[in-house]
Amino acid sequence: MIIGVLVLSALCAPKYEEASSYYDDVNDEYKKPSFINSDTLKFIPSTNLSPSEAVPVLVWDAVQKCPIIKPMVWGMIPPWTSGDYKSGSYTTHNCRIENVKESRLYSAPLTAGKRCVILCEGYYEWKSTVGKHKQPCFLYKAQSPGMKPENESHWSDGKWSKSQGWVGPSLTYLAGLYSAFESKKDSEPILSSTVITMRSSPAVSHIHHRMPAILSSPEVVKDWLNAEDVNMKEAMTLLEPTESVQWHEVSAEVNSSKNKLPTCNKPVDTKKQGGKQMSLTSFFKKPKKDDGDDEANPPKKPKKN
Ligand SMILES: *[C@@H]1O[C@H](CO)[C@@H](O)[C@H](O)[C@H]1NC(C)=O
Ligand SMILES: *[C@@H]1O[C@H](CO)[C@@H](O)[C@H](O)[C@H]1NC(C)=O
Repeated sequence: MIIGVLVLSALCAPKYEEASSYYDDVNDEYKKPSFINSDTLKFIPSTNLSPSEAVPVLVWDAVQKCPIIKPMVWGMIPPWTSGDYKSGSYTTHNCRIENVKESRLYSAPLTAGKRCVILCEGYYEWKSTVGKHKQPCFLYKAQSPGMKPENESHWSDGKWSKSQGWVGPSLTYLAGLYSAFESKKDSEPILSSTVITMRSSPAVSHIHHRMPAILSSPEVVKDWLNAEDVNMKEAMTLLEPTESVQWHEVSAEVNSSKNKLPTCNKPVDTKKQGGKQMSLTSFFKKPKKDDGDDEANPPKKPKKN
């Protein structure tokens, strides 16, 4: 699974704040989470983000008691990593809900309430078709009529106000866990995150048998984030395979993480250009694996010295 996010360059951080706004019933108005930049980790918007790159992530601010957005590495850095965390192999970008409680990597952040939400406009998955060919698809939260999350102008035309909140395309909220990695090199801890995955709902199962835990609304997002008031057991009940998903087929450009093109998440008519697409195959040196099925390859824990 690979994430596609907004391509709005300078606009990006404010758009994420607006689009992830939530209703504050104490003050009877909509509030925007603040995007807190980091000196050590820079979020670079792209239509084609891969594990080890920075993603925008909602977390709970325990002091202000509200959600905020921070850039985090996608792929949880195991606390036992030694040396440069960047040289690690990232099989930790997905976390299977079935064994999250027993996992030696994910159980600690889950128990500690380190719950987060990865913000994106959708994600890519590879659908098995005839023969060995796999068709990349862009999947996202079901939109209001006429809204296309892959169309940049729908995001820039979107409006935010205190009385109405965000009126525009919907973000896709992926439930996840995060941790803070203390590296010797960097003064600040490096934040890293993983997306929780589960068996697909019927809406998605014809594309892939797994799907991320997509949260349905900003209210559910708040409950997932707020570990002070919502305990682990209650929080886990918020995660279910949603039917509220739309999708379209996209170009094989997304096969290479080097291709961070505006066309990556745009619909293609694969029937028309089937032949042309296949001839692109040789262009890509290393096609990506279709699913970093996380705990199938758990990171090795070094022996104690
Ligand atoms: C893209 O990658 C998938 C495997 O991940 C492969 O099945 C598919 O054929 C590739 N498509 C092209 C056009 O390279
Ligand atoms: C994106 O949306 C704008 C405004 O609705 C529309 O004019 C434009 O044609 C759309 N672009 C694509 C590629 O569909």
